Amino acid sequence: MKVFLTGGAGFIGSHTALVLVEAGHDVVVYDNLSNASRESLNRVERLTGGRIAFIEGDIRDGARLDRVFAESDIDAVIHFAGLKAVGESTEQPLAYYENNVAGTLTLCHAMDRANLRTLVFSSSATVYAESREMPLPEDAPTGRPTNPYGSSKLMIEWLLRDLQTADPRWSIALLRYFNPVGAHESGRIGEDPQGRPNNLLPFISQVAVGRLPELAVYGNDYSTRDGTGVRDYIHVMDLAAGHRAALDAIAGSAGLWTWNLGTGRGYSVLEMIRAFENVADREIAYRIAPRRPGDVAECWADASRAERDLGWRAERGLEEIMRDAWRWQRENPEGYRDAG
Ligand code: NAD
Ligand code: UD1
Repeated sequence: MKVFLTGGAGFIGSHTALVLVEAGHDVVVYDNLSNASRESLNRVERLTGGRIAFIEGDIRDGARLDRVFAESDIDAVIHFAGLKAVGESTEQPLAYYENNVAGTLTLCHAMDRANLRTLVFSSSATVYAESREMPLPEDAPTGRPTNPYGSSKLMIEWLLRDLQTADPRWSIALLRYFNPVGAHESGRIGEDPQGRPNNLLPFISQVAVGRLPELAVYGNDYSTRDGTGVRDYIHVMDLAAGHRAALDAIAGSAGLWTWNLGTGRGYSVLEMIRAFENVADREIAYRIAPRRPGDVAECWADASRAERDLGWRAERGLEEIMRDAWRWQRENPEGYRDAG
């Protein structure tokens, strides 16, 4: 298949590009490089020995998408492009609705004009309502997100559902990611946050490598086994394999499907710190800080639907997650700015 990856130069997109190239697909990446480096794809090409067509472009540019779709015979789209920093989204809500929601609208219009109606979308566990019942199956209620980033994901899910109902020729997968972490086992591609990381594992890695002095643990008074927040951390290579499986499953049959991509297991912040320390053989300095607004105590997936429907499940455990995250950070302390 020829697969068009919006946002394919980013963290999850670049790992998925690698898996797709290795599976024999043709990959076209379309990315405005607002939060990524072209270097990630150079490295994917070197790792796979394959070619990736790269187009620097914006999903909000419908005329550009028309030209690209007219020139290349795309079979399916995996839509990663968007902004994802929760804190920034509360300061700049319009930028989030414009890039994420309006950008998706523009993309869908262009796909429709090109008779291209197979779409895999990067959704998030953030769409679920806060719940005491864990794990979360796909039919758990969705909530009222606490920030514009989360709202944009839920709005896009609604938009895509309405689109598929109105025009049943569409084939759409909503993939709800839990907490993507880790890196390719080579240590050549990984997560490269700009500025101060928002998420736990990149923060721990940057403390380990000396870029940051200490980790703030956001709350140790949750009703969890050690008082710190519990999440479902999924290795990015497992996540990438999940995209390949979803694409294979939906290509050629119309409908809309929702799948959780998680491991079905939760780990606390303190367990994450200890697991990292064991693998990296160094101490992570941390202090207990107040809770972060908008955080929930626990969140992990019921991942059985994806296993049943797609024959996919996460294979990599916490040790591999930490080993690969650490190798990437250690060998690229400044991320892709250490190009070579
Ligand atoms: P990322 O920032 O590394 O990748 C997103 C890519 O989209 C970047 O390469 C960026 O340059 C590009 N982009 C942004 N706006 C664009 C636009 N208007 N036009 C073209 N390209 C644009 O993020 P990621 O972690 O790889 O996430 C990929 C997707 O998965 C995002 O939609 C994100 O919201 C979603 N998601 C991520 C997580 C996570 O923890 N990483 C969790 C749940 C969902
Ligand atoms: C966050 C976002 C969520 C988004 C997801 C993936 C918030 C409120 N939620 O989820 O919308 O889909 O990232 O990008 O931002 N932690 C610390 N110290 C830190 C960082 C995190 O203790 O410096 C704790 C958090 O309180 C949480 C856990 O680590 O318990 C994981 O945090 P994080 O990696 O930010 O992911 P989420 O909060 O699950």
